[in-house]
Amino acid sequence: MTCPPELLSLLRDPVGREPLTVDGTDLVNQTSGRRYPITDGIPALISPTELGPQNRKFRRMYDRLAPIYDLGLTLGNLFCRGKLAALRRQIATMLALKPGDRLLYTSVGTGADLLYLAEQVDLRSIEWIGLDLSRGMLRRCQARLRSLGGTAMLVQANAECLPLADRSFDVVLQVGGINFFDHPAAATEEMVRVSKDGARILIADETNKVVRQSYRKNPLTRAYFQDTPDAADPRRWVPPGAREVQYEEVFDGRGYLLSFRPPVS
Ligand SMILES: C[S@@+](CC[C@H](N)C(=O)[O-])C[C@H]1O[C@@H](n2cnc3c(N)ncnc32)[C@H](O)[C@@H]1O
Repeated sequence: MTCPPELLSLLRDPVGREPLTVDGTDLVNQTSGRRYPITDGIPALISPTELGPQNRKFRRMYDRLAPIYDLGLTLGNLFCRGKLAALRRQIATMLALKPGDRLLYTSVGTGADLLYLAEQVDLRSIEWIGLDLSRGMLRRCQARLRSLGGTAMLVQANAECLPLADRSFDVVLQVGGINFFDHPAAATEEMVRVSKDGARILIADETNKVVRQSYRKNPLTRAYFQDTPDAADPRRWVPPGAREVQYEEVFDGRGYLLSFRPPVS
């Protein structure tokens, strides 16, 4: 997989946000000399000190779960009689994507949402970046991407410290994971920073109900969630001055959808 030049130009050093240039199989900050590798077509833009304890723990968890993640989604969707698929479809519709848009999907995971996005807009008519902390999840997403084509790039990075240029995206989507970031409010600020004026930001995740009833009991995940405090109310992450703020609990109170437009700058 090669990185499209129009998207490569949006990448920035996660430390200081200076532009990067390609040098062989690395991205290089010409000012500091810092280098970041591109492995199998996926740049890894993570500085050595930026990850907190939660980031490290959940990166480990998702690297381990990646091979069975999609199977888990399929079974989960069957178990709840298609409600998960309906929710993904609702999210895709809310984004109102149109040809020419540039989309950032933070925590893209294995790309399970791509098929639902493709029902709304031809993915070859938009540019998009999928970003995730777990290389295992990104490798799965890469396999999906091959069949979809289009101007797309995957980046391994921390959503709390986006290695991306200011004001670059028309739509920013974050589904799952954010409840257990070390700094979810900082991640939301980052989404705002990289959004163009008038962009739409949509954040979705489970509520604490699911964490208590499922993740802290499931043998595959309980070790990771035992000492994890309940997540904060996501509405606290919305910056002052944000417009069209909408918050909705969905799926029998098991999930939430939070959407807004960034404050006018
Ligand atoms: C529940 S999965 C959701 C994946 C996908 N969005 C979906 O809906 O299937 C959460 C994702 O968040 C990613 N993640 C966790 N912490 C992250 C961080 N700090 N920055 C970027 N991605 C992160 C995980 O690697 C994982 O792929």
